[in-house]
Amino acid sequence: TKGINGLDKVVLREINGSTAEVYLYGGHVTSWKNEHGEELLFVSNKAIFKPPKAIRGGIPLCFPQFSNIGPLEAHGFARNRVWTIDLDPPPFPSNTTNRVYVDLLLKPTEDDLKSWPHSFEYRLRVTLGPAGDLMLTSRIRNTNTDGKPFTFTFAYHTYFSVSDISEVRVEGLETLDYLDNMNNRERYTEQGDAITFESEVDRIYLSTPTKIAILDHEKKRTFVIRKDGLPDAVVWNPWDKKAKSMADFGDEEYKHMLCVEAAAIEKPITLKPGEEWKVRQELSAVPSSYCSGQ
Ligand code: BG6
Repeated sequence: TKGINGLDKVVLREINGSTAEVYLYGGHVTSWKNEHGEELLFVSNKAIFKPPKAIRGGIPLCFPQFSNIGPLEAHGFARNRVWTIDLDPPPFPSNTTNRVYVDLLLKPTEDDLKSWPHSFEYRLRVTLGPAGDLMLTSRIRNTNTDGKPFTFTFAYHTYFSVSDISEVRVEGLETLDYLDNMNNRERYTEQGDAITFESEVDRIYLSTPTKIAILDHEKKRTFVIRKDGLPDAVVWNPWDKKAKSMADFGDEEYKHMLCVEAAAIEKPITLKPGEEWKVRQELSAVPSSYCSGQ
């Protein structure tokens, strides 16, 4: 179907009533709603749904470069390209049933090959599980015929919707090392308890566990991020000053979002021709009472 500005999007609907929307522009998930129709992802009211600007919110894909760590545009070009739908996607393994999914594909354009001279195929599978869980699986294959390997960094740049950032805690990153994007990516060690927010935060946590939780006290909701093959986790909130400097982000919107991004940054990934890299992130949103003791 058609989304904002006539851009193509795919809507997934689970039988329990949960939904997800994926724009072909960017291979970008822009909505994930639970069975009560509550939106779980943040998208800015000022988001620009028009190439070449990436959509502010949802789940942008950072590939083949995270941030400005390398020669390409910030966060790479995958989030600014129009992906195609694979109308005949490979099936799920036979032991999984009841899944609603779509496969999108990205291959480099001729212009991309000028700035990043590597041929690849990126298959993104977006799946809604029976309990309304949202899964994103990425398979990236080196399809170079010149025998050359390529190297990249990656992130699922997920914007979670939260009721009040001052009341939010992130659990699972305590005592870990992180690189501070606000201070030349210098390395620090996280002290103490869960992470809370009272000013701008922009950090790359290293060697993180496969499960991270975002506790939203006011909403009485916990997001659980489970990830596979993605050792790093970026935590980002722009806070008031940075928010004002972003044209596609409302001045007060930082209060209602938090990015926690499953990523591979510190140790870039290298693929030889014919090799494939497969990673995934699975998101669930549960009432907080179910999570006590975690
Ligand atoms: C985060 C980075 O992942 O993305 C931040 O750590 C950056 O430094 C943010 O500001 C948003 O990036 P962009 O390119 O979407 O404005």
